[in-house]
Amino acid sequence: METVLYNSLKKYSDDIKYKLHMPGHKGSKEIFHNTEFQEKFLEIDLTEVEGVDSLFHPTGSLKQAQENVAELYKTKESIFLVNGASVGILASIMSIVEDGDEIIVPRNAHRSVYNALFLTGAKPVYLLPEIDKSTGIAMGINSDTVEKALQDHPKAKGVLLSHPNFYGLCSDIDKITEIVHRHNKVIIVDEACGSHFKFHKELPISGIDAGADIVVHGTHKNLPAMTQSGILHINSERVDVDRLKDYLMILQTSSPSYVLLSSLEIALAMVHEKGNELFQMLYDNITWFVDELKVVDGIKILNNSCVGNDGIVASDLSKVIINFNHLNISGYEVEAILNKCGIQCELSDPKNILLTFTIADSREVFGAVLSSIKEIMIGVATVVSHDALIDSLWHVPEVVFTPKGVRNIKGTRVFLEDSLGLVSLNHFSPFPPAVPIIRAGERIDERVIKLLKKYNAPQTINVWDEAGQV
Ligand SMILES: Cc1ncc(COP(=O)(O)O)c(C=O)c1O
Repeated sequence: METVLYNSLKKYSDDIKYKLHMPGHKGSKEIFHNTEFQEKFLEIDLTEVEGVDSLFHPTGSLKQAQENVAELYKTKESIFLVNGASVGILASIMSIVEDGDEIIVPRNAHRSVYNALFLTGAKPVYLLPEIDKSTGIAMGINSDTVEKALQDHPKAKGVLLSHPNFYGLCSDIDKITEIVHRHNKVIIVDEACGSHFKFHKELPISGIDAGADIVVHGTHKNLPAMTQSGILHINSERVDVDRLKDYLMILQTSSPSYVLLSSLEIALAMVHEKGNELFQMLYDNITWFVDELKVVDGIKILNNSCVGNDGIVASDLSKVIINFNHLNISGYEVEAILNKCGIQCELSDPKNILLTFTIADSREVFGAVLSSIKEIMIGVATVVSHDALIDSLWHVPEVVFTPKGVRNIKGTRVFLEDSLGLVSLNHFSPFPPAVPIIRAGERIDERVIKLLKKYNAPQTINVWDEAGQV
């Protein structure tokens, strides 16, 4: 049998020299100060056998390792994860809601949040992010929006906040945490893309320091740990720790990878020892890169200009958002050309590209990416900026069924034109801003149809066949 998967990975790795996306280690052998780890890889691929402790009932080395990490992040308890931030988010939500309970979540939350609603039967109360009209990016959640949601839904069990959002932009987590606690509720912070925030003064504040109750990290994203490694931090007395741990045990494999767990520990040990120096180097490289780039005609770096607008109070500088509003080229086109130069972006959209840099990226990486972008821009005409796709039609339609409630509903397919007033069984989230226009279980109204057409949704949609069985 041909090893097609392995071959494709090898080819990708050979073709793409500069990986400006996760995982945070970027395949760099130098970044792991413990080079022996790379040699021992297969030998230490063990799981819960006598002598190497247990992830779910740790009493030895794993307990100590987790305590060291709790000390590093200054939390009450930190628990290692082997199924990414997703499993931490699932378990956190499951630990605070029952079937039918309300929970306040951003409309543009990661899909693990929706999966938790699907599994529990909890009802979402949505926080709508502000949308930047010129770039199309989903911005922050205003603290007033959270206050109002809590006032309107006093029985809600808690609030989940994505911090940062996918573009590295941060809402006012200090203020939002204070509001949630004033209402005597739990705040869960999806900090999947912010496990590095603690380690440099120019990075945004972590949910941990803002006093959030549960903070979930995807350490493989912005720290040099392996894919799927993560941490769930317990940061207050409000958390039902036993229930949370039960769900982690239910949702995770019974054979956790100790290779992943070791990579997480090694990455954090390195940050502990040399974090200041490494993050300062990253910050200096990014400052240089951004200064060089922002003088290129037509290019705008959005990170700083977003701060202070639409609920955004800080931006993760290691996620560089490059905007081409004033150039006759799309983000998709720039990404495709960069790809041919052996550079892979984190993402592109009609007007922007997003590059994720980590402490594994050397000055050579920054130099190569800079030269390629400058070269691409030669000959690209400047244009008068026009607003991106978004308009003020963004809203949450009437929610008829909970995410779990749609599970056994019989559907029928109709043309968009004929769907007014019917209940959708499809999701549709254009990117950007990755805010769903409609989710399964919501009623299709005029604004939804208008937005679906605007974003080139398929011409037909699966809807609740009210004549059929529920
Ligand atoms: C905001 C956010 N939350 C959660 C996740 C899930 O993280 P993981 O892939 O580690 O499960 C992601 C992944 O991209 C994310 O961007």
